[in-house]
Amino acid sequence: MTIAAIRAAFPVLSRAGFHYLDNAAMAQCPGTVVKAVAAHDLTARANVHRGLHELARRADEAYDGARERVAAFLSAGADEVVFTGGCTLALNIVALALEERMQAGDRIVVSAAEHHSNLLPWLAMARRKGLDVAVIPVNRDGRLDLSDLSMIDRRCKVVAVTHASNVTGAVTDIPRLAGAAHAVGAVLAVDGAQRLPHGPVDPRELGADFYAFAGHKTYGPTGIGVLWGRREALETLPPALWGGGMVAGLDGDVPIPLDPPARFEAGTPPVAQAVGLARALDWMAGLDWPAVRAHEAALTRRLLDGLAGRDGIRLVGPADLADRLPVVSFAVEGCHPHDLSHLLAERGVAVRGGAHCARPLMSALGLDEGCVRASLAPYNDETDVDALLSGLDHAIGVLR
Ligand SMILES: Cc1ncc(COP(=O)(O)O)c(C=O)c1O
Repeated sequence: MTIAAIRAAFPVLSRAGFHYLDNAAMAQCPGTVVKAVAAHDLTARANVHRGLHELARRADEAYDGARERVAAFLSAGADEVVFTGGCTLALNIVALALEERMQAGDRIVVSAAEHHSNLLPWLAMARRKGLDVAVIPVNRDGRLDLSDLSMIDRRCKVVAVTHASNVTGAVTDIPRLAGAAHAVGAVLAVDGAQRLPHGPVDPRELGADFYAFAGHKTYGPTGIGVLWGRREALETLPPALWGGGMVAGLDGDVPIPLDPPARFEAGTPPVAQAVGLARALDWMAGLDWPAVRAHEAALTRRLLDGLAGRDGIRLVGPADLADRLPVVSFAVEGCHPHDLSHLLAERGVAVRGGAHCARPLMSALGLDEGCVRASLAPYNDETDVDALLSGLDHAIGVLR
């Protein structure tokens, strides 16, 4: 499939002079996804696992089918897939469910590259329970420094890391961390929000115990996320949230939770969004990923070279293409990232400027004002990269 054909599936990208490079914040949706969500609401809108009428049966089928689709994308079992309202919620569910087994003095290990979604829930739990938090540092290029993992010791109960940074695009060596975590009996929770949009993942093979991602970054609807949990890991966890649809009944006033995944889906789940996400994963599964990765790498190279060839630009993150996603951040001497992204937007180039919900990483990299991030998807092409580079020349000319 050509890039033009990939691009044609996304109606919003047909606008002339529009260059969408903010995919790490939210990817665009293929028209088929929008249609699938609308068709569901027009023909099968009902609550799930509760009703026996015709629409309820259709909704059950659609929702259960969506779970099977997600499971297949993760090479997992359907009972390992929990639908949530987003990646943040998925990570909070893991943290809340693990809290019961944590004792004062236990340790949680996170990395300095975490998005706040995979940091603040653990910090909040650490404050509540008197836990120790240790941080895996980053190198100058923003990659995790895994040279000394002695902090993952017997006190450590949870290692929570991102599969790929939303700022630098650096991909984490998850199998290495899984080995270190499991050697001391700790569980490994992985934030896959940025990695999953760039091709199928097998979290079990990686060694993760939990793996979370967001629908809206994987070409699907907003308001949905996924928590994958290794069956054995999910089964030992208590519910994190309480409500309808997740208990078999009550023994007096003691709730009897259902088995996973229902145990973790309190309340009405995001049904139409699950249908849309399944369609988005269908779209992803139809791509030739080696070809897409080669295309994304070539665009990343073009962008990195273009930025490196301009005065006063500091590249944030790895300069090489090994183990990195097409997420490119940079800072421009004398120009605030918000001013740059505003001036780029005026020229039809959508990027994001700021701290990217990753304050510890900004501090570690000495980027007090944040940075500009251009994040690519399979549908981007050279015209997008070149529009960014020429827009940047214009913006710098205005601001300096
Ligand atoms: C690495 C990472 N983790 C988590 C999230 C949060 O995901 P959500 O918006 O689905 O809560 C983001 C969003 O930008 C992210 O980039």
